[in-house]
Amino acid sequence: MNAVEIEEAISELADQSFDPEGFPFAFLEAFGNKATTLKRLKSGSSNASDIEGGVLQRNNIHLLVCEKGDVSKTLATLKDSPATTKGKAKFVLATDGADLEAEDLNSGETVACAYADFPNHFGFFLSLAGITTVKQVRESSFDIRATGRLNKLYIELLKDNPDWGTAERRPDMNHFMARLIFCFFAEDTDIFHGDNLFTATIDQMSARDSSNTHEVISELFRAMNTKIADRASTGLSRWADGLPYVNGGLFSGSTDVPRFSKIARTYLLHIGNLDWKKVNPDIFGSMIQAVADDEERGALGMHYTSVPNILKVLDPLFLDDLRDQLEAAGDNARMLLNLRRRMAKIRVFDPACGSGNFLVIAYKEIRAIEAEINRRRNEPERRTDIPLTNFRGIELRDFSAEIARLALIIAEYQCDVLYRGQKEALAEFLPLDAQNWITSGNALRLDWLSICPPTGTGVKYRAEDLFSTPLDQAQIDFENEGGETYICGNPPYAGKGKKTTQEIDDMEFVFGSRSVKHGYIDYVGCWFLKAAEYGLRTDSSFAFVTTNSLCQGHQVPLIWPVLFETGYEITFTHTSFKWANLASNNAGVTVAIIGMSLTPKRVKKVISIADDGSVLSKDVANINAYLVGAVNILVQKQSKPLNGLAPMNLGNMPYDGGNLLLTKSELVNLGLSPLQRKELVRRIYGSKEYISNIERFCLWIQDERLDEAMQVPEIQRRIEAVRAMRSKSTDKGGQAMAARAHQMREMRTASKQTIVMPRTSSESRTYLPAGLLNVDNVVSSEAFGVFDAPLWQLTLLLSRVHLVWIATVCGQLETRYRYSNVLGWNTFPIPKLTEKNKADLTRCAEDILLVREAHFPKTIADLYDPEKMPEDLRHAHERNDEVLERIYIGRRFKNDTERLEKLFELYTKMTTKGAA
Ligand SMILES: C[S@@+](CC[C@H](N)C(=O)[O-])C[C@H]1O[C@@H](n2cnc3c(N)ncnc32)[C@H](O)[C@@H]1O
Repeated sequence: MNAVEIEEAISELADQSFDPEGFPFAFLEAFGNKATTLKRLKSGSSNASDIEGGVLQRNNIHLLVCEKGDVSKTLATLKDSPATTKGKAKFVLATDGADLEAEDLNSGETVACAYADFPNHFGFFLSLAGITTVKQVRESSFDIRATGRLNKLYIELLKDNPDWGTAERRPDMNHFMARLIFCFFAEDTDIFHGDNLFTATIDQMSARDSSNTHEVISELFRAMNTKIADRASTGLSRWADGLPYVNGGLFSGSTDVPRFSKIARTYLLHIGNLDWKKVNPDIFGSMIQAVADDEERGALGMHYTSVPNILKVLDPLFLDDLRDQLEAAGDNARMLLNLRRRMAKIRVFDPACGSGNFLVIAYKEIRAIEAEINRRRNEPERRTDIPLTNFRGIELRDFSAEIARLALIIAEYQCDVLYRGQKEALAEFLPLDAQNWITSGNALRLDWLSICPPTGTGVKYRAEDLFSTPLDQAQIDFENEGGETYICGNPPYAGKGKKTTQEIDDMEFVFGSRSVKHGYIDYVGCWFLKAAEYGLRTDSSFAFVTTNSLCQGHQVPLIWPVLFETGYEITFTHTSFKWANLASNNAGVTVAIIGMSLTPKRVKKVISIADDGSVLSKDVANINAYLVGAVNILVQKQSKPLNGLAPMNLGNMPYDGGNLLLTKSELVNLGLSPLQRKELVRRIYGSKEYISNIERFCLWIQDERLDEAMQVPEIQRRIEAVRAMRSKSTDKGGQAMAARAHQMREMRTASKQTIVMPRTSSESRTYLPAGLLNVDNVVSSEAFGVFDAPLWQLTLLLSRVHLVWIATVCGQLETRYRYSNVLGWNTFPIPKLTEKNKADLTRCAEDILLVREAHFPKTIADLYDPEKMPEDLRHAHERNDEVLERIYIGRRFKNDTERLEKLFELYTKMTTKGAA
């Protein structure tokens, strides 16, 4: 169950009459517990409570329904009960049907409310459903609830008005929803005079059978589009006259309204009766935009970008600087004034703004700084100098663009109330400003210079549609006194193979004039290039969230030389972290944040999360394309190891049409004697065979044994089949191989042992799945082999340091690491190793191999499943990392960022020495 579904279930429960006996189970059911789980709890078999009537679900919650007035006492009893501790309950909850109290035993947070109100606090309990939430979501019960209700209404309306769901009318439908949301907010915040004016008027004036609901709403919209002075002449119904003139583009154009069924009308009234004062524009927009998106609706409201993540972009981009300036200004009135003037000219531009969350946060943060300036300057009620229209965006989806604008309007109003008081906020709120500063369109096709004109130059802009204004709307001028522009956002990522035809065309449009294989670059790369090109014309810096693959492997030499050529430098980065949201289908993509500027900065910042979870911030002189505090350098393929390691080669390519390879049963069918089996057959390992211990064999025939082999009819048939297949080859190499059809293209093998390294490995593993094969086994071209190398070289492959190097320089194929000998092994920087070091490392490799063996028959896939990795194996790896990392820097690295920094330092030395 997702949060929206849970909210619905909880609300339904609270609406029903209170059933003391059934409540604990109904409550647990609302949080997604299955019927069988509840049955076991009811029967008592899994109920761990030690209190009469109590229900204790282990690792979750201990609940008790009590006598009237005993709620607080009962909560204390639940808290003190030994079973609560023993059963590791996260929550205790007591209710008498009139009041409800609960406590989160981990955080100590409590809830105490009327029973009927507990759905307002459902976010508090979300972890009961396994949804771990950031604080803002827990506190956003209203937003989740409103999203769920609006979603129901949207679906119901589309059901009754299928024409509104067509591509042509969808924008009308979305626009209609935006108007409703505005009205709900306005009627609860005194923007509309009178309590619940909009909803109450619909309730009173529309027939209960819903037949004229659309006409009533349409008339109300017409009122909001009619200036007070013009009302008498337009024949507006008297009951609609109480609504103010709003417009600002929001109510202009058609006042057409979809028809309402009785159910839709009820939904509408329910939504109107929510308390919209509680709406939080930081996240409401992100949640609500899924409503209009047929594909996203399943994960309704769950693609939520947390405020802390947005601040990871905005703080280092410009907010930290503003706060530093504020601090430096102290109470100096002139410095404070200068800072305010500077802020008034700052433009924040998100060219993939979705519902405007980055813009909303930026606006609110700047308003907070301004409020502090005004406080220190003793001008607390001063009207804001920060124009909302300086927070500009482009968004492809029209509903999201509408919501972005609404979210900003709401944010402005809320900031005015907060910093200046409600009276002042109301006095200036209506009518809305008609300017269009959130553009609905394709950011990669639009000219950013016309949306955010270069500072100091007046540029006229022809906007695409936003609030139903016709596409050929009048040009809009923005005041443009000059100032800084900060471009930010989290544009769509879309890697190779994930792009739509439109997106592939967009890439061609953006990269076309440059000779770059842009097909391999993630779609998000377009925003980097557009932002860099924009900055060549006007004072700006930018920072985007991006998939970290843009800074790994083969994408690095494609995009980064192009970006660096513009003169831009990376001024800060937040290295890889999981960008998790609440969507159940989203395990969290790994992203990085990259900030770039044309203005040279002596000190750049690398921000990263340490292995212990703390945040590290390091000042460096340069940040390279791999997001490492090191010189700009591209790791190049090397045909031989630069580091003194043994050569690593790809295994043997069968090139056999399947005839040299054998399954176990095919091997049995050959009918070989034990001696023949030993001399003519080998077990063969590629990635899958090694990782999942899949038995596979191959004919392995030395020239001197060919005659003997040909005596076995099935072997002879197979060799002839290989010959026939290779003879048909169109390339000369293939044909030449037909002459030795009994062998694979290579016949690489070891005389003692082979270190095997699968070509691909799941990114979820903490270590690469390398290992050791004995002399009787061979490696296929689906894996690499290091033949007869000393065991300490296996240690390297099994280390965290090596995994990080491979992830960075070789990159990933979808969600798998793609190993490369020429790019990864041959370039891997290692410190100088003493004989003692090698002996220590050898012992580490032996330990790991011994532990693996002790878990036989578990496969590498079993053992390295991050959820199930055995403790002794984890320890053996930890020891391996400890020993190796001490050789690198005398201690453990704090995190991967530090590992990479050391590796790049060594790599630079190694390659410059080589070049010299
Ligand atoms: C990852 S979302 C980020 C939105 C918002 N900042 C958030 O956190 O929810 C990317 C947004 O870019 C929009 N988008 C995708 N392609 C676009 C394009 N070519 N031009 C403008 N916007 C685009 C998507 O509709 C989506 O809203």
